[in-house]
Amino acid sequence: MSTPSKEAMTAEMRRVFGSDEKRIAHALSVLSFAEKILQREQADSNTVIAAALLHDIGIQEAERKYGSNAGRYQEIEGPPIAKRILESLGAGQQFVSEVCDIIGHHHSPRETETLNFMVLYDSDLIVNLRDDVEPSRLAGMKEKLERMFFTGTGLDVARDTFFGTGGA
Ligand SMILES: [Fe+2]
Repeated sequence: MSTPSKEAMTAEMRRVFGSDEKRIAHALSVLSFAEKILQREQADSNTVIAAALLHDIGIQEAERKYGSNAGRYQEIEGPPIAKRILESLGAGQQFVSEVCDIIGHHHSPRETETLNFMVLYDSDLIVNLRDDVEPSRLAGMKEKLERMFFTGTGLDVARDTFFGTGGA
């Protein structure tokens, strides 16, 4: 199965986001946490890396069309853009459809989820908590965190990131 390189997908992500450095930094942060989680979870790295880089790729289109970056609009607008990018980089059909499926519900987990989805979801969650929640509030969420993450590794990495007490 043909899968585009991380470098090529990163370049396309940067091209779509243009001068929007905040979105670029977000995608790269999600990628770096995904790579950390992938070291211990047996997910498919290529799929997770593509989903990490492209998960919010519909955000500007959502803002243009609906004046909102709400999750459900991103979920509608992201997959066609991701599909175009991945196909232009020669990705196989099965790969494209799995990555686009993840992007298309990345804020709306289903009853049963793939490990690839879970790793992307946990990585995005870590970055969103890190960047959007006051550290003092995070400290009060230690127990709640356990119910927020899909993977044990995601939870460990989150604890390590927020409280410096991961692993074991
Ligand atoms: Fe995100």
